[in-house]
Amino acid sequence: MEIIIQPTAEAATAIAARLMGKLIREKPAAVLGLATGSTPESLYGHLVGQKLDWSRITTFNLDEYVGISPQHPQSYHSFMWEKLFRHVNIAIKNVNIPDGLANNIPASCETYEKKIAAAGGIDIQLLGIGTNGHIGFNEQTSSLASRTRIKTLTPQTRKDNARFFGSEEAVPHHVITMGIGTILEARQCLLLAFGKKKARAIAEAVEGPISSMSPASALQQHPRVTLCIDEEAASELKLSEYYRWVYDNKPGWQKV
Ligand code: PGA
Repeated sequence: MEIIIQPTAEAATAIAARLMGKLIREKPAAVLGLATGSTPESLYGHLVGQKLDWSRITTFNLDEYVGISPQHPQSYHSFMWEKLFRHVNIAIKNVNIPDGLANNIPASCETYEKKIAAAGGIDIQLLGIGTNGHIGFNEQTSSLASRTRIKTLTPQTRKDNARFFGSEEAVPHHVITMGIGTILEARQCLLLAFGKKKARAIAEAVEGPISSMSPASALQQHPRVTLCIDEEAASELKLSEYYRWVYDNKPGWQKV
């Protein structure tokens, strides 16, 4: 894993945005795995500002709530259109987000997986991390080989997301999420985490054992993972000085 620690969330986001922007410029028909939540919001603002050509880009979002319509203000459909898609020249047909209203959820999940494969796989998967270490909505004890499927949110995640819905009761219990196995098949993963409340989850994901109790720890098995995190999210890492040295002394050709 490459651990990039920056003084602020803004500085870490700027690096992540450069990395994604570079990929889009170098591969105009890239397949992007996208994430929602407060963490990537500013990254999308940066990407919009880069004036990139999205006309041949395909996207797959990690997850969506079950039982709310795409028009619901807290649906991840709404989030993505609001924060990114309506500001760029992406083709609607190339946007993929799990369908939270599907009549047959297992069949729609299977179709989602097939679409990812048919698109040639995901070039870069953007990820946030839950305070409990989840990636996508793969909660603790998710199979590390899991595929796109329905999941039940933990009380912790519903509590964490209550701020978007106004109350905890209003947060749906069920979601559709890409699996950890799905995420691990992306050619590159880019995880962002900011703030003290993510520090434990980051330390367990990076320096703990690989365990379904820390779903993000599965990323240790992926050959190409970059973390862009702020000081607070890095505050429980034992080897943070080492990670800083590595980044500060990268050979020029490796720098973004
Ligand atoms: P957040 O959520 O970006 O809103 O903190 C991250 C996550 O739950 O994966």
